[in-house]
Amino acid sequence: MSHIKNIINLAFESSCDDFSCAVLLKDSSGIRVLSNVIYSQDFVHDIYGGVVPELASRNHMKASVPALRFALSKAGISLSDVDLVSVTAGPGLVGSLLIGLMEAKTISFALNIPLAKINHIEGHIFSPFLENEEKFPFIALVISGGHTHIYLVKSHNNIKLIGRTRDDACGELFDKVSSYLGFGYPGGKVVDKFAEEGDESAFKFPLPMAHSHNLDMSFSGLKTAVISEINNLGGPDNIKESVVFDIFASLREAVAKILYKKTLYACNIYKISTIVVSGGVSANLRIRSLFAEAVEKSGLKIIFPSIPLSTDNAAMIGYAGYFKPSIDPVKNRVEFLNINADSSWEL
Ligand code: KG4
Ligand code: ZN
Repeated sequence: MSHIKNIINLAFESSCDDFSCAVLLKDSSGIRVLSNVIYSQDFVHDIYGGVVPELASRNHMKASVPALRFALSKAGISLSDVDLVSVTAGPGLVGSLLIGLMEAKTISFALNIPLAKINHIEGHIFSPFLENEEKFPFIALVISGGHTHIYLVKSHNNIKLIGRTRDDACGELFDKVSSYLGFGYPGGKVVDKFAEEGDESAFKFPLPMAHSHNLDMSFSGLKTAVISEINNLGGPDNIKESVVFDIFASLREAVAKILYKKTLYACNIYKISTIVVSGGVSANLRIRSLFAEAVEKSGLKIIFPSIPLSTDNAAMIGYAGYFKPSIDPVKNRVEFLNINADSSWEL
């Protein structure tokens, strides 16, 4: 008989424009998600073509208590059952981070429950292990609205940044092109959907830095190339629908190729055979299919989160929380009181 103590973990994520609260259980059979409630604000920011920080914080305030209530009731537990609180402390928008962080700190302090503060990127890196067995070491490609980073991960607490975008994140590129063509925010999902109807060889967009002998990337030149092409074709209002689909398909192909080349290069340099791809952009169908080819060609193991767990959610923050030293609000009073949001927290 195993004597692993059951640990109920209440997790919060509010780093950008989604407020999420989750309940997880760790017992002798592993870690399970009992509830994972996400309050999306896409409809709030869509008309502005990007996230408006003040509106994000205000909407987090509205969502914070109902999301907690809903997550607890869906999991069939009450606050008194909670053994651990996990929360994103950065990076992200400071006003957004503070709403989830203050809720988590309040619960932890009032009920005397230890608190684990989690880096948002760490949440993404380990998110696929909510549904797959862990396999160390691995190369982690984290692709989201704010990040395009490559890490060498040897354990939960040994994560080294080995490559990153020097300018835009790849999700930001999809969002900006979508917005420019009037498809709203966030655009990655829309670009992906319509790219399925287009021809990826219709436009030859550049692959900046794809062949450079380092693991850094760049997406702003690609964004400029796509926007110039749209303008050459008469501008966003005069372009034919089928041509828009071709642009989306060609853009998606270019992004997928850059990410694929750099990640495989990282595997080569560090002699690693497992790749974990996560973050909102990892929902992309072409990125998934291109990486799947690497399994066939070179026998690499590739792990993605399921599509619902690709974008921001509190379940992934809870998962990471099980592997972090937690801070006790009574025994580590000073450290606890000093926990704050860190909008540019680098892993
Ligand atoms: O991880 P995430 O939810 O939030 C951040 O941490 O940024 O990622 C959001 C990003 C947005 O840029 C969104 O457009 C992109 O993920 N995204 C996608 C897809 N679904 C969401 N990008 C490409 N293809 C998709 N299917
Ligand atoms: Zn994220």
